Amino acid sequence: MAHYRRLGEVPPKRHTQHRDPDGRLYFEELMGEEGFSSDSSLLYHRGVPSAIVGSEVWELPDQSRTPNHPLKPRHLKLHDLPTGTDAVTDRRLVLGNNDVRISYVVTGTEASPYYRNAIGDECVYVESGTGVVETVFGVIGYRAGDYVIVPRATTHRWVPAEPSQLYAIEANSHIAPPKRYLSRYGQLLEHAPYCERDLYGPEQTFTQEGEDVEVLVKHRTSAGIVGTRLTYATHPFDVVGWDGCLYPYTFNIEDYMPITGKVHQPPPVHQVFEGHNFVVCNFLPRKVDYHPLSIPVPYYHSNVDSDEVMFYVGGDYEARKGSGIGLGSISLHPGGYAHGPQPSAVEASLGVEYFEESAVMVDTFAPLDLGEGGLAVEDPAYAWTWAGRGPDDPAVFSNS
Ligand SMILES: [Fe+2]
Repeated sequence: MAHYRRLGEVPPKRHTQHRDPDGRLYFEELMGEEGFSSDSSLLYHRGVPSAIVGSEVWELPDQSRTPNHPLKPRHLKLHDLPTGTDAVTDRRLVLGNNDVRISYVVTGTEASPYYRNAIGDECVYVESGTGVVETVFGVIGYRAGDYVIVPRATTHRWVPAEPSQLYAIEANSHIAPPKRYLSRYGQLLEHAPYCERDLYGPEQTFTQEGEDVEVLVKHRTSAGIVGTRLTYATHPFDVVGWDGCLYPYTFNIEDYMPITGKVHQPPPVHQVFEGHNFVVCNFLPRKVDYHPLSIPVPYYHSNVDSDEVMFYVGGDYEARKGSGIGLGSISLHPGGYAHGPQPSAVEASLGVEYFEESAVMVDTFAPLDLGEGGLAVEDPAYAWTWAGRGPDDPAVFSNS
């Protein structure tokens, strides 16, 4: 995040004395990425940010992964996936590899525990619902269509105002706008489909009183992904001021301006974010190709180097007509397998001028495994919908 932001009280010079009205020093903390070599912020705490009084195991929900073997395209029906109601602890793992994990939860209206992901940034797509995310930097509101970007190690909690469907993309890295959208100094360029005005960070600091406050920390050991429950002597939300270029923010898909063309445009024009070894794209309502002989739905494509995950979040997805896919569905089209529209969708798309569809795509450069949540809601017939017949029931699909 290249944009400098300053909230609350900070001293004129960094690393100098900063005192409260009673003369007590505030405690300065640098949150900095990539050692001291990338974006950072300086936060001024009333309490000591290192003062813990307890450390216990936090048992994470099932993180097991099953390889996609034998290789198949998959259809996972997230709206059929029952979850607990906590935005953090009740996420069910749908897909994952060593770079990124995708999980899903339908919240209630209770606040989540205080939480910090020490493995990487989180990009949580809000399928539905409203509420706020309280963070050590301040409070950000969320609504349907938002990507909520929470930088690694940011202490926060989710406070839904109403039940919310959350699609959590948890990286093992940072998540940022694609480099090709940025000037060499980090400003979003004219050809980018969104700009700084579309990013919403905290507007004011947010301080709370409290002692012995628990924070759940997701982190890694040689045994894999684990959780720890740290207890802090004083409330971690005690920041009276901060400044820098590292903070949480939201971006709504309504503010994404799709790029269209005379013939079909490839997915990179729909990219919104990138992490290490994966990208996030969104396919949104838009005018489509205007060549008189254009075919608006995609050509068949073999993603030689990636697995492709589509999450269908709005409208009627043209290329998947005849496949059983609907709102709340995920399709996984893995590397090693060419995919494209269901045959009936190609003819049906000719002459169409506008697609009323919304989907969030994650492309990974390493194969994705299935999480326990994904396996629980798989539609086993999907793989055979292009051919119209499969090994078990040879003539159930018409594709006409
Ligand atoms: Fe594709």
